Amino acid sequence: MSALLPAGLLQGRHVFVSGGGSGVNLAIARACAGLGASISICGRTEGRLQEAAAELRALGADVAHAVADVRDAEAVQAALTTAAAALGPVDGVVCGAAGSFLAPAERLSSNGFRAVMDIDLLGAFHCAHAAFDQLRETRGALLFVSGGQAVAPFQHQAHVSAAKAGVDALMRSLAVEWGPVGIRANSILPGPVTGTEGMRRLTETAEPEVWAEMVPLGRFADPAEVGRMAAVLLSPIASFVNGAVVTVDGGMALTGPQPFNRAVLAAAAQEGR
Ligand code: COA
Repeated sequence: MSALLPAGLLQGRHVFVSGGGSGVNLAIARACAGLGASISICGRTEGRLQEAAAELRALGADVAHAVADVRDAEAVQAALTTAAAALGPVDGVVCGAAGSFLAPAERLSSNGFRAVMDIDLLGAFHCAHAAFDQLRETRGALLFVSGGQAVAPFQHQAHVSAAKAGVDALMRSLAVEWGPVGIRANSILPGPVTGTEGMRRLTETAEPEVWAEMVPLGRFADPAEVGRMAAVLLSPIASFVNGAVVTVDGGMALTGPQPFNRAVLAAAAQEGR
């Protein structure tokens, strides 16, 4: 994969990835590690972080990990402090930790809505906020992980839509506020990606074929296809890219989520909801 990009593109750089123990976030960490970056990851589960760290070390990267729930600002700050002590100040921060489930808005509790807002949006703010001093020092880059729900309404995803649209709005604000001190901020917006927890949850209701139908390229992304574009956005190749939402979805945003929406409503009707 990394052979597609200049070897050593991220050599000497340190990339921190929230939620980096699995899924798309781990794919981003993997891509950065393959391009020479040292990597720090945080997440909620020690065992998962340890496994991911071992995998990243096997790619040749120096790796640090810390257990931190992104909803906890102090834990995130501590994770970034530990990461800097181990690997130097961060050059890149991926705000990727996310939570998702399908629920009709009228049945979604306040806590359910809040859980996703807290993980996706407040958690992203916590990571960016905690990294500010380090990123100012390195003139580094922030990368937020958005989702198709930010731009088009997906059935039973009102909470995710609100959170991801907020993430992109936060990103744009930081691109303007922190651009003058040399910090770039962008979002990457993946379409369906194989093998992730998020897609496992969504394909329980809408079969993989439904998703493939929505993607003009007719398939899911390999995690590495998202990872390498994220690495580009964190690298000097993207030195003048600031405030962008970079869509890596095989064209799904152009066709819209109607097949998914129909499948969700059909499943709900079958369950008598
Ligand atoms: N439908 C409706 N409500 C749900 C739900 C579902 N499928 N899953 C959770 N909730 C509600 C809970 O009922 C609870 O609200 P309540 O107190 O009113 O009952 C609220 O969400 C919080 O749930 P809880 O399980 O206590 O939260 P948590 O902090 O342990 O987990 C989640 C957070 C809910 C986002 C959980 O799905 C998670 O940990 N996800 C991380 C993994 C993930 O989603 N990966 C994919 C990323 S795209």
